[in-house]
Amino acid sequence: MANEKTLSIIKPNSTLDNNIGNIISIFEKNGLRISAARFAKLSKEKAEGFYIEHKERPFFGELVTFMTSGPVMIMVLEGDNAVAKNRELMGATNPANAAPGTIRKLYAKSVGENSVHGSDSVTSAEREIAYFFEKNDVVNRF
Ligand code: CMP
Repeated sequence: MANEKTLSIIKPNSTLDNNIGNIISIFEKNGLRISAARFAKLSKEKAEGFYIEHKERPFFGELVTFMTSGPVMIMVLEGDNAVAKNRELMGATNPANAAPGTIRKLYAKSVGENSVHGSDSVTSAEREIAYFFEKNDVVNRF
């Protein structure tokens, strides 16, 4: 299997609800290791830049408002097939459709306040990791 890195963000509803540890525990129990981490409150500009591909979507304003409403935990996760593994652990974007035991089923409130973000491909992961971290901030764990 391929060792990969992916970007994970624990969103403001989950930092507010004190679920950072519960979510990281799910990653660690399933073979993903943290290779870099930052706890931060995003500026409007930083959040807009991160979600630029959604700029024309009707929910873009709501998404940026939510992502800047409180602190986020931004992490690089590393492991075998980390991109797909992280998406499996997160569950469907809309928690109403998420499988039992997934992070979004356990902790998300709505499609907007859905607890976590995860890169959707290896290419996105590379862009998203570079958006938040310098090369030297990321430690190889394998
Ligand atoms: P995320 O994985 O962070 O990527 C884009 C985000 O847009 C997504 O999770 C959702 O939180 C958000 N999103 C998608 N669809 C909607 C929607 N219909 N209303 C509000 N937010 C949405």
